[in-house]
Amino acid sequence: MTETDPRHFLDVDDLSAAELDEVLGLAAEYKAEQQAGVLHDDLDNQTLGMVFEKPSTRTRVSFETGMTQLGGHAVFLSDSDLQLGRGEPLKDTSRALSRYVDVLMARLFDHEALEEIADYADVPVVNGLTDDAHPCQTLADLLTIQEHTGGLSEATVAWVGDGNNVAQSFVIGAALAGIDLTVATPEGYEIDADVIERAGELGPAPTVSDDPAAAVDGADVVYTDVWVSMGQEDEREEKLAALDGYQVNDDLLADAADDVAVMHCLPAHRGEEITDDVLESDHAIVWDQAENRLHAQKGLLVWLCEYA
Ligand code: CP
Ligand code: NVA
Repeated sequence: MTETDPRHFLDVDDLSAAELDEVLGLAAEYKAEQQAGVLHDDLDNQTLGMVFEKPSTRTRVSFETGMTQLGGHAVFLSDSDLQLGRGEPLKDTSRALSRYVDVLMARLFDHEALEEIADYADVPVVNGLTDDAHPCQTLADLLTIQEHTGGLSEATVAWVGDGNNVAQSFVIGAALAGIDLTVATPEGYEIDADVIERAGELGPAPTVSDDPAAAVDGADVVYTDVWVSMGQEDEREEKLAALDGYQVNDDLLADAADDVAVMHCLPAHRGEEITDDVLESDHAIVWDQAENRLHAQKGLLVWLCEYA
């Protein structure tokens, strides 16, 4: 890495604990100021390129809106519209886009493809979700937990369900933030061992189990995500069978804290990983969580473009 190399955000541990704190601090400031009607032009004249190989509601709209609110602009680029869809190599796409945009966000299947984009980019590259990680989601999750509990290091959190991309970045972020985390995943769908190891080097390692009831016992926050992620449609029956018993429902939450907060990165599949009753209950903080994507990413974009 040379002095001129940009900082990338491919997973949460591309930030140190102190840097994560700075980004979350900026996010909280932008949120408070937006609520007070204060306008900003911190990214005046700057452009975010957004490459999508998978669909998105929250990521696309929060990034695009965030850039507008910061005085900048975002360009939506689906892979089928780019020459990438006709076989132009990633490294060429990355170098060409770097000559136009100030920051690049990509939602891809393959995490290594994102790493290749970052290797060739002259501008910061942000992970908008890969099969392995969803670190922008984690920033919003941490902001949300901070708002709804006594503080990150005070929170007891349980992840229940698939050990997927959202879970993996959350494990890393929770360790960096000092969260007491228990992860309950079924056999065959655990968090990758190297993610648990990385987390343990950054902070408190999560307690890993296959027992949802034990994980949720006394938890302040219970977090889940879909059982069949984008691109896993062929594994649907197998995954539904493995995850049977991991649904976040009223029975499972009976032994959680009385005021337990329930999180979901969305989109949710009611009747699979979570019941409609729980999602529509006062325990669910999923809309604050979704809103916080906007504030967290404004903090991240300004940090990457102006501070890093
Ligand atoms: N949580 C999340 O990333 O949602 P989208 O797939 O709608 O972007
Ligand atoms: N795990 C889900 C997250 C969607 C935001 C998926 O990858 O489809």
